[in-house]
Amino acid sequence: MFFGRGNPMHTLTLSPLHPVFVAEAQGLDLRQPTDPAEAAQVEAALDEFAVLVFRDQVLDESQQMAFTRALGPVDMGLLKVLQRRSRFKEAGMIDISNVDLESQILTRDDPRLITMLANQLWHSDSSFKQPSARYSLLLACIVPEQGGETEFADMRAAYDALPDEVKGEIEGLVAEHSAFHSRIQLGDQQYTPEDLAKYPPVEWPIIRTHPGSQRKTLFIGAHATRIVGWPVPGGRLLLADLLEHATQRQFVYRHTWRPGDLVIWDNRAVLHRGRRYDLSQRRELRRSTVEDVRV
Ligand code: OGA
Ligand code: MN
Repeated sequence: MFFGRGNPMHTLTLSPLHPVFVAEAQGLDLRQPTDPAEAAQVEAALDEFAVLVFRDQVLDESQQMAFTRALGPVDMGLLKVLQRRSRFKEAGMIDISNVDLESQILTRDDPRLITMLANQLWHSDSSFKQPSARYSLLLACIVPEQGGETEFADMRAAYDALPDEVKGEIEGLVAEHSAFHSRIQLGDQQYTPEDLAKYPPVEWPIIRTHPGSQRKTLFIGAHATRIVGWPVPGGRLLLADLLEHATQRQFVYRHTWRPGDLVIWDNRAVLHRGRRYDLSQRRELRRSTVEDVRV
């Protein structure tokens, strides 16, 4: 498939990696500046495939941020609370690694490692704030020999596959999403009332229409705490049931990282989670994020 302007150097070529979403993207050298026509091709590809895998993109920090900015404004995620100091010079770069500021592997009980573990729960980045995240760009630098994959689940296909009566039951429901809920669920207690106050909860419909593809999606995940207007336990059970449905194998792609892989996903269309790995092995990725528009 081509989204081309005729010049093969600037033509994004897409090869599907899964029956319902995800494509490997070739034809762009992301070290080079991205012009608006190329950014539009990437967006169109994400509207269709929701996850794009670029291989062999050994980018420095500035190149990654330049590509990120070509796709929209930078989302700062939890950086107001986490990572006041960073190994990176770019303010919006998020360290998805198990190492400290001196690049030493963190111990299992280090709060910085513990906060990272919540990435292993299914979630949509920054769904606890308004605006939320549109695209996340995750670049692999060093990966463990085993484990540490990242999984993606297609929330459009998951919505489509819901029985009609369930679609009817959940139409119009709104969920509250809260920062640190995923971490608190794991028993991580390191967040102060001041931390929590920096990210007041936000509400999102659990069914949304994707503006690019016009497809309906389920918008759920580990930041969703309850259904607005329902008693908490019943709401949490519904959210858990929907998540179980939405993350069945037929909707899931597992990405096994190679250094130099850059994966971009659309947080409006997919959930993602990291997979467990041997924490004594080095795993270094870095993420930059494009903020969505306020909706
Ligand atoms: C992220 C994330 C999962 C992983 O970077 O947003 O959730 O596999 N990462 O590290
Ligand atoms: Mn994430």
